[in-house]
Amino acid sequence: MSVGKGLFVTFEGGEGAGKSTQIRLLADSLRERGCTVLTTREPGGSPGAEAVRHVLLSGAAQEFGVRMEAILFAAARSDHVEEVIRPALLKGAVVLCDRFMDSSRVYQGVTGNLEPPFIEALERVAVNGVIPDCTIVFDLPASLGLERVRRRANAAEVSAGQEAELDRFEKEELETHEKRREAFLDIARSDPKRCHVVDAAAAASDIAAAVLAIVEPMLPKTGGGPDTEAAQ
Ligand code: TYD
Repeated sequence: MSVGKGLFVTFEGGEGAGKSTQIRLLADSLRERGCTVLTTREPGGSPGAEAVRHVLLSGAAQEFGVRMEAILFAAARSDHVEEVIRPALLKGAVVLCDRFMDSSRVYQGVTGNLEPPFIEALERVAVNGVIPDCTIVFDLPASLGLERVRRRANAAEVSAGQEAELDRFEKEELETHEKRREAFLDIARSDPKRCHVVDAAAAASDIAAAVLAIVEPMLPKTGGGPDTEAAQ
């Protein structure tokens, strides 16, 4: 369901799947083709949502339960949609978003055990008609993704002289991460028009080519306003 003249592409998958690198590579390729591109991420992407991001990822909201966390993710999403995503799409931009509604379906719905009608109601309010035109699911064995996340945290520790920090969701058990992988694949199977699965264990250049081949045929015919990039 397109909003305005733009194209809304979301990137989903487990931890350590390499989404942010691929979003950067795709944004570069699309700009070379003359597109106006906005890259953004969730939770966050707008000032209001970035304030909620810290509460969620630090684990500060965890003690209040998964229902509370789901509502906070939805609040952040609503602000992000109305302040950033919808206006960009209306101007004709290509919006590349690192995680969106499918992450709530999987993390809060499936592994958070929240009942589907509750998740669906939050989703409807938060996205308010802004459904991705295309969702790329980065598929990777959970053990490999977690290994990458830990390696990244250790490298940050060495360069900053700080203790390695995993966020509230990265700290969960391998079994939970495997369940999430299956849940993303289930979403892709149930909505094949919107969702495309890529093998995130492949070489970065091969993944980039696969992602570009999916998105290129969907590009809007004309570019929008001035080039913009959300703070990450
Ligand atoms: P982030 O550091 O942005 O990482 P990643 O590289 O994994 O995308 O962390 C976002 C975390 O928030 C991630 O573990 C998934 C989780 N999340 C949810 O649980 N529900 C949601 O709706 C969203 C958008 C993210």
